[in-house]
Amino acid sequence: MSRVASVLQAALLLFSTHLSAAVAIDGAAIAASDQGGDWLAYGRSYSEQRFSPLKQINDGNVDRLRLDWYLEMPDSRALNSTPLVVNGVMYFTASQSVVMAVDAASGALLWRYDPEVITRLANRKHMRFNWGANRGLAFWKGRVYVATFDGRLIALEAATGKEAWSVQTFPLDETRYITGAPRAFNDLVIIGHGGAEAGAVRGYVTAYDTATGEQKWRTYTVPGKPADGFESPALKEAAGSWRGEWWKHGGGGTVWNAITYDPLYNRVYLGTGNGAPWNQQVRSPGGGDNLFLCSILALDADTGEYAWHYQTTPGENWDYNSAMDIVLADLEWDGKPRHVLMHAPKNGFFYVVDREDGRLLGAEKFGKVTWAERVDMKTGRPVETPEARATDGVSVIYPGFLGAHNWQPMSYNPDTGLVYIPYQEMAAEYDKRGIDSERWRAEDFQMNTGFQPYRGDITPDDVSSALLAWDPRRQKPAWKVDLPGFQNGGTVTSAGNLVFQGTSSGYIHGYRADTGRLVWSFDAGVGIVAPPISYAVNDKQYIAVLAGWGGASYIGSTAMAQHGWAYGAHPRRLLVFSLEGKAEPPPTVAPQTELLIVDNSEQVIDTAQASAGQDLYLPRCLGCHGVAAVSAGGAPDLRASAAAADLDAFGTVLRSGQLQARGMPLFDELSDREVEQIYWYIRQRARESL
Ligand code: HEC
Repeated sequence: MSRVASVLQAALLLFSTHLSAAVAIDGAAIAASDQGGDWLAYGRSYSEQRFSPLKQINDGNVDRLRLDWYLEMPDSRALNSTPLVVNGVMYFTASQSVVMAVDAASGALLWRYDPEVITRLANRKHMRFNWGANRGLAFWKGRVYVATFDGRLIALEAATGKEAWSVQTFPLDETRYITGAPRAFNDLVIIGHGGAEAGAVRGYVTAYDTATGEQKWRTYTVPGKPADGFESPALKEAAGSWRGEWWKHGGGGTVWNAITYDPLYNRVYLGTGNGAPWNQQVRSPGGGDNLFLCSILALDADTGEYAWHYQTTPGENWDYNSAMDIVLADLEWDGKPRHVLMHAPKNGFFYVVDREDGRLLGAEKFGKVTWAERVDMKTGRPVETPEARATDGVSVIYPGFLGAHNWQPMSYNPDTGLVYIPYQEMAAEYDKRGIDSERWRAEDFQMNTGFQPYRGDITPDDVSSALLAWDPRRQKPAWKVDLPGFQNGGTVTSAGNLVFQGTSSGYIHGYRADTGRLVWSFDAGVGIVAPPISYAVNDKQYIAVLAGWGGASYIGSTAMAQHGWAYGAHPRRLLVFSLEGKAEPPPTVAPQTELLIVDNSEQVIDTAQASAGQDLYLPRCLGCHGVAAVSAGGAPDLRASAAAADLDAFGTVLRSGQLQARGMPLFDELSDREVEQIYWYIRQRARESL
């Protein structure tokens, strides 16, 4: 850094110290719908509505919206974070759980905190599940809280970025990992984790004292081994809904995303995850509801004790986790005002639930759903279709495991009464053939589902997506805008009658919130999955979004690679817009539409080895290098890699760990034969792709 820059940074640090000392962000501040120009928590307020009451930017003038400032993010790839804005300072997470604080009016960097996740994970198999993504932060009384991929929860002084405390939330030999944002309330900060596909994991959340990091309570979401005793009466009862020796598989139910605090009832609502493994015949042979998988689980916020639950997918079998955000609102229902929560999980139903007692008020399909006909309002249970569970064989159903809606947050606008959902459509094939339910066991740090891995490609024709405005009172769509591609960004809505969303195709669009008319667009030059926010500093309103394709979209396939966001090719940026913006948009790099496949035409492909190699590749490599070896930008496309085309070089990359610092994990347990088999699979895919 130049001397001028460091002097400037020191001055800004002083300035920000002064600012943060003046405000104490507590529960009352986060609960307020009027937060001035701030954005104080992941979903803005405790309601998680992502509704900004600001209306300087509105449907009458949004055509004047221009880039005001931007920040280059050269060290980042996947950007999934919702920034927070507290009194003129913006805090957000970049790739690898790095935290940044910038002046929210100018973009000047105030501090950067690097938890050095990759260094800590080098040589550890955890790295194999590291897409580098992190969804955000919590703010509480002058401190910023980040949860790192390797499972630390860290308190940072907001003024300086100095670490106040750090706790490890799971042992590093367990296959858990964190990509989600913590939430803060009542001097507690709470976090869960993911990892139910990576090994035998039993999900839990833990609440820590914001001042000291001391653990206050921990609540498991599924019952453990009965012989060890149950942690609570609720888990004892839940155990009656499981069969076999489920605890050997962990059970799952991780809380990897949705946590909503409700100040009205002093509860937290957890959106619990899928089963470990997905295949129920393996996990809980003989069926059962398998509580509290795929549920909204309400807990007392002070003790973590069970209050009520509503299970969206009893006997889950399809990765239909309920981890999508839970939004609080006051709605009139059957002529009475009600305190409700709204939830649009992967399974394709939009739920309205009474927060007082967990009673289901409404559940309708918001997209293509073939696993269930409807939800029976008397029992609150889905009525499954015959094809939902092929007892022996293959079922192909909608939605697939990526969901009709994934983690990309929806928003709710109390003025229009509409919820804006990043909707997507893709089927999945659940293939049980050849799976021995008795003997199946999860392999640590591999993709474990209890089904045969999907061996084909997913093409652009197999997917579609839209921005869907859903009317929760009438329980039907108000309007829908079709979008190209799959895995678009989360949404934000405002009192200016606007909705903003970034797309997988690299645009940020603004729409009229009431009609869905497109009123503004900006070419960001890279796919966007993060949700935008809106905030104000000195009476000037801004729209901000992190542009950085990545996260689960790295699972790849031709469908997700279709926009051409190649590994390392497209700059990642924080983009900030205002009505007075005068910044020259930074140059973009053209999408990569053609791949230079490396193929030795003399070579005769060893198809038997290639087939064995595919079985090794899929559970280990697809998360970054893509389904069918088609990369969507998470890592180099191996069909075009010279290193992958040379058996010696290939073996060295896999077993020496030489690229660990750049995100390529170590696979030193692979034998010569296995390395060669994967090599042949990639050679085959290269040949097929010519
Ligand atoms: C967690 C993500 C991740 C996983 C899982 C992963 N890789 Fe990688 N891989 C990377 C990244 C990132 C790079 C690029 C590193 C760099 O910038 O040099 C890479 C690079 C490579 C390269 C070098 C490519 C080149 O042309 O430089 C090869 C070969 C490779 N990986 C093979 C594999 C195989 C085979 C597997 C599965 C056994 C695998 N990788 C699993 C992330 C991953």
